[in-house]
Amino acid sequence: MIGRLNHVAIAVPDLAAAAAHYRDRLGANVSDPAEQPEHGVTTVFVELPNTKIELLEPLGENSPIATFLSRNPDGGIHHLCYEVDDIGDAGRKLAGLGVRILGSGEPRPGAHGKPVLFLHPKDFMGTLIELEEA
Ligand code: CO
Repeated sequence: MIGRLNHVAIAVPDLAAAAAHYRDRLGANVSDPAEQPEHGVTTVFVELPNTKIELLEPLGENSPIATFLSRNPDGGIHHLCYEVDDIGDAGRKLAGLGVRILGSGEPRPGAHGKPVLFLHPKDFMGTLIELEEA
């Protein structure tokens, strides 16, 4: 079921500084910031040869990463995103195995417009997992 590692998401307190860090110190290819009001974050993607790094900064009052950043004020790894062929099938299979799916439990459009699901970190060794239909 599991496919490629699509991205590693890192929550950061200062997106411009984080993007400059990757661009200037590591020579990485860094996207422009994109506000995603429906997800409560602004994103910058760092393109690597084999995957992406998604830098996340809170946007708006009820950002889903606000609590994470209050606990990790310097930032930190927020989630891993794995690709799957069929998000509906993956969600049903995992729910049937007792894995908790966050939110409504139904796939919704993610930061790339493709359907995603988030799996409860307590069911995945303390790591928030995003599944994205490839
Ligand atoms: Co993500």
